[in-house]
Parts: sequence; structure tokens; C-alpha cells
Amino acid sequence: MEKILVLDFGGQYAQLIARRVREQHVYAEIRSYKTPLGEIRAGGYRGIIFTGGPNSVYDPAAPKCDPAVLRLGVPVLGICYGCQLMAHLEGGEVGSAGSISEYGKVELSVRPSPLFEGVPENSVCWMSHTDYVKAVPEGFSVIGTSAQCPAAAIACAARGLYGVQFHPEVTHTEYGRDMLANFLKKICGCAGDWTMEDFVRASVEKYRKELGGKKVLCALSGGVDSSVAAVLMHRAVGDGLTCVFVDHGLLRKGEGDAVERVFREKFSMNLIRVNAGERFLGKLAGAEEPEKKRMIIGEEFIRVFEDEAKKIGHVHVLVQGTIYPDVVESGVGEAATIKSHHNVGGLPSVVDFDEIVEPLRLLFKDEVRAAGLELGIPRELVMRQPFPGPGLAIRVLGEVTREKLAVLRECDAIFREEIDRAGLDKNPDQYFAVLTGSRAVGVMGDARTYGHTVALRAVSTDDFMTADWSRLPFDVLAKASARITNEVRSVSRVVYDITSKPPATVEWE
Ligand code: XMP
Repeated sequence: MEKILVLDFGGQYAQLIARRVREQHVYAEIRSYKTPLGEIRAGGYRGIIFTGGPNSVYDPAAPKCDPAVLRLGVPVLGICYGCQLMAHLEGGEVGSAGSISEYGKVELSVRPSPLFEGVPENSVCWMSHTDYVKAVPEGFSVIGTSAQCPAAAIACAARGLYGVQFHPEVTHTEYGRDMLANFLKKICGCAGDWTMEDFVRASVEKYRKELGGKKVLCALSGGVDSSVAAVLMHRAVGDGLTCVFVDHGLLRKGEGDAVERVFREKFSMNLIRVNAGERFLGKLAGAEEPEKKRMIIGEEFIRVFEDEAKKIGHVHVLVQGTIYPDVVESGVGEAATIKSHHNVGGLPSVVDFDEIVEPLRLLFKDEVRAAGLELGIPRELVMRQPFPGPGLAIRVLGEVTREKLAVLRECDAIFREEIDRAGLDKNPDQYFAVLTGSRAVGVMGDARTYGHTVALRAVSTDDFMTADWSRLPFDVLAKASARITNEVRSVSRVVYDITSKPPATVEWE
């Protein structure tokens, strides 16, 4: 398999770079800049990309890789800090001057180079830097400039070394995609034949060989990742797989049944559904603090799963729906974790198993969805918007009760239905209702009411690290509000959340 190494120097963009590479159908993996040279050599990479990073190469604590990485005979593309580091390690000079700092869209002029094939001489790129390459190393030449940056792109074509001060991975760089494609195909010689179909076929074959005849157990949360992992494993080991679907009673309207139907009817799986709603509510009684609620739910999920697993007895394999961002967040990468990872999960301590298998650990979320479609999981299940592991419990502010959950479930279903019906060009990336916990006075008929205040939230975002509130058409909001107050009796007021992240978060808790 053709592989590209994304060597992570602490930029926020490592995942984005890996994803852009995979969009060219070349498999990419992210590893720390500390990865020993021997491992990099043994990795058999077709090319290496140095990411950006917040440091200056002259900082004593600046992350640096072994300079010999540049002499492996493998092409390297350095981006931003990665470009400066390349120049520095090769004996060039990196300058630092506040007045030179560039941020945002900048005019870029390029000279003929394999990296810029098909890229016009003048285009727009995205810059974000203070330091810059002041003098290129011996053997390198300047292949791109901007007004503030005499060496916006450098190359030593004979050795396959390229550096760009700007960020080709962000969409603001007009021809960034072409530049990355050139690096992968023209410079590294990749064919770009990594497809989801291949991935699914290869995984199924591998697990069929390795796990055929074994007893395999999978915990389902109702979410996309564990569902895809289960279906993939089912294709490999068939009836050897038993799925335990822990329904914590905090799913959206109709969601638990929809998941069950697909698993039972479409895939005829051995499925045990545990309706543990009461059990979760019992544990949540009196809990008001968001983090406390998260902790209770995470722990209880494992306890319920353990109880079922005990009945099943010894299993050979436990399947987990871990995906690539989880792997990276749990310490492979170098970027500061902005938001702690919060999937319901963890490792059951008393389940009797020999080994853990994570069939999706190489995939990004959109790739997991593509794999799900490839496996024949219905689109409406696979393409669901993100839903937090603790479910509606973190959308009922304060203490969670059965009554509040029922109210929220209805309001949320109406809002989602109205957005889906509106036929917007693009739906918001996440949209849902929140039960705010405050009551408001209203009037219905001739009577005074005093009911729930429901907030509607819709955001657009690329990565959920930052998000903007969606400018939904007023008509859609009006319709949702009218339906909610008409159809859900105990609600007397509907408000729309117009806060971005930051300073707010997507969820209210
Ligand atoms: P925040 O609220 O942190 O949300 O801006 C960012 C994204 O993460 C989801 N989220 C969670 N997902 N368990 C999860 O599995 C959680 O505890 C959790 N909290 C937030 C949120 O829905 C959004 O997509």
C-alpha cells in the first residue's frame, strides 16, 4: 500500500493534511516528529510531509526531527514551520521579524516546478507566520514569492525536497489541492489507488482469516462508528459476532428502534438490545453538573455492557469503534488537545476477552461514513449528524428526568424535521434543541401558561473545534417555533442560539 507520512510538529493542521492526502486516494498516517529514523525508514513511505507548528526553529524547545530524514531519498514537503525547519536543518537561514508577519489571504507568485504544475503564475494562498526563510540552503532555489516573503516556496528538486511557507491544505489556498496532488503523484510517484471499496474488501478478508470461527463481541452505542465497525465485522465473521446495543434511553426520537431494525432485519445479526433507560435515569438522579453527568453515563455504559457480557461468557475478541481522530487525540499527535475526547466508551474491566480489534482505527469520520455506505448501511443512519455519546442528557440542562427527556425529544424531532424539509442548499453541520431549564410565562387561549423555554441551536463548522451559528432562514425558524409551541404543550417559549464557538461551545453543557 502506498503510504505518506505526515510528521507532526504540533500544528493544528496535521489531521487536515492527512485528510487532504487521502482525498487524493493515497493513504496517510500521522506520527510524532519524535518518531525514530529507523521506524520512518522501515515504514516504507513514498513521501513525507512536515506539518506546521507554533514554534520558531531557534526556540530551544522547538520540535526537530532527525536531519537525516531529509537524506532518506524520500521526497519531503515542508509546510510553514515544516518549511522553515527544512531550510534550517539544511543550513539555510530563518528570519524572524514582526513586521514580516503575514496572516490570511496573500498573493503568491510561482515559478515553474513539478510542485506547481497546472498552477497559474499568480494565485491566492493562505499564510500564517512570523518567521520566514531568509536565505535558502545550498542546492535549493526559490520557486515562489509573496509581497512579504522572498522565499514563499523553496525546492531542491534533485533531492525531492520542497517547502512552502503557506498552507496548501486549507481551502483558502486556491490551488492548494493541486499542489498536494502534484507532490503526491508527480514528485512521490504515487498512483493514488486507495479506495474505500478496497479498504472494506481488504479488512473483511483480513478479519475473516484472522478471526473466522472465533467468538466476537461488539458494544453498540447507537452511533455511526460502532454501527459501521459492527457491520464490517459481521461481514467478516457472520454469526460469530454478537452485538450488545446498550440503549441508555438518551437517544433521539425513534433512533434506538431505527438502529435495532437495521441490525436485526437488514443484517440479521445476533443482537442483544438492552433497554437501560431506567437504570441510567436512576444513576443520573440528582446530578446537575455536566461533567458529573458525562462521567455517570460513561461508567454506566460500561457496567451495563459488562453485565451482558458476563452472561455471554468468554469471548475471543472485543470490537471497538475507535476511529483515527480518537487515536490521534489519545496521544499519537503533537497538537494541543483543545477539547478533551468524550466518547462514551472506555475499556470494560471484567469482560472476559483475549484481544481487542479496532477495524476503523485508520479512518476519519467521513471515511467511516463512506465505509458504512459501502457496507450497505442505509444512508439515513450513516449520514446522521454528530450526536454526543451522553446523548440528550447534556441537552437537558441540570437534572435529567423522564418528563424533560420526553419534551426535549419531541422539540428536537420537530426542529430537525423542519430543517430537513426546508431543502436548504446545505444543512447545518449540527442542529438540535436544548431544554434550557428556565420557565417562561406565555398565553394560550385566554389562559396564562408557565412552561419550558426551549433553545434551538444550529451551527456550521469544519472540525467542531470552532463553529459559527447558522443563519437559518427566518421562515424555517418561524415554522419550527410555531410547531413546537403548538405540538408540545408544556413549552411556552422558543429561542434561537446566536453564539459562535468560541466563546460558546456547540453543546450547552
Ligand atoms: P462542544 O460542545 O465541545 O462540541 O463544542 C463539539 C462536538 O463534540 C460533541 N460533543 C460530544 N461528543 N461526547 C461525545 O461523544 C460528549 O460528551 C460530547 N460533548 C460534545 C458535540 O455534539 C459536537 O459535535
